[in-house]
Amino acid sequence: MATQNIYILAIESSCDDTAASVMLNGKILSNVVAGQSIHEAYGGVVPELASRAHQQNIVPVVQQALKRANVDKKQLSAIAFTRGPGLMGSLLVGTSFAKSMAYGLNIPLIDVNHMQAHILAHFIDEDGFKKPPFPFLAMTISGGHTQIVKVHSHFDMEVIGETIDDAVGEAFDKSGKILGLGYPAGPEIDKRAKLGNPKAFKFTKPKVEGLDFSFSGLKTGILYFIQKETKANPNFIEENLNDICASIQYTIIGILVDKLKLASKQTGIKHIAIGGGVSANSGIRQALKDGEAKFGWTTYVPKFEFTTDNAAMIAIVGYLKFLEGNFAQQNVMASSRLKI
Ligand code: KG4
Ligand code: ZN
Repeated sequence: MATQNIYILAIESSCDDTAASVMLNGKILSNVVAGQSIHEAYGGVVPELASRAHQQNIVPVVQQALKRANVDKKQLSAIAFTRGPGLMGSLLVGTSFAKSMAYGLNIPLIDVNHMQAHILAHFIDEDGFKKPPFPFLAMTISGGHTQIVKVHSHFDMEVIGETIDDAVGEAFDKSGKILGLGYPAGPEIDKRAKLGNPKAFKFTKPKVEGLDFSFSGLKTGILYFIQKETKANPNFIEENLNDICASIQYTIIGILVDKLKLASKQTGIKHIAIGGGVSANSGIRQALKDGEAKFGWTTYVPKFEFTTDNAAMIAIVGYLKFLEGNFAQQNVMASSRLKI
């Protein structure tokens, strides 16, 4: 039997990265991401500026993705796009573009949930990366979300814990802001944490029942601590920056691992995956590896380029939905609060 070649073009525009990717039968051929440095000056994403930048970036980013994959648009089998959750103005750019292109080419359109995509990124065919067996636990840790999800199958997922206030990425970014670091601060804290002592300063972990998370108290605790110390020594931050970063990161990872331990105990599931921008963090990656020896877990950490927002993860969901014939209609709407 002749096997069909399925080419998916995927588009991601939920926040401040414009991304496009081309996939052939589950393997990534190209993965293009255009970030938006304009937000750095504001210390956070400005929604109106984000959607304008998406409008400028989307055509060249899609063209680059097709070019790098060496695929002509006439070869495409379907177009997948992020429907939500995310910033409405940003989502609208990708959604409208995908709808028009699929309509123009007369090929199927596939809507993708961004948070499912962070989880299903583990199903991209990549040498050296294994795919988790069902059921597994997935912890999605990003700038907008912090959830523990029980994954029964590709499209049957159950959120069993989530943050009641800030996302873990915000905990990194807001702590960084207090320390005068640029936005987003997660990667910088990670870099400095490697050079510092994680036990130099102690921050109180929040007490939240069950599998839910809270990060807003930690941010306030860090703010008060810094205010107190800089009053006594105005150079406190610069003299201790690596130790402060290491201590903050150590505290955040402790919170995440405690909840994963509880989730694994409650569900009896020992296959544990992480996804989302914060899964790029070297400390959480190491903590998961340690969990294999300590708790008998088998852990799944995405390839670095599939952690922060990207379209390759949208492409794999598009491919899996294509195989099921699960297509969207032309009247599909972007949905900023789309649930898993
Ligand atoms: O998934 P993502 O790219 O966008 C959202 O959907 O939110 O996640 C972005 C978040 C930011 O908060 C950023 O600071 C954080 O991921 N992040 C990191 C690291 N790399 C990105 N946090 C800690 N350590 C890192 N290495
Ligand atoms: Zn994301």
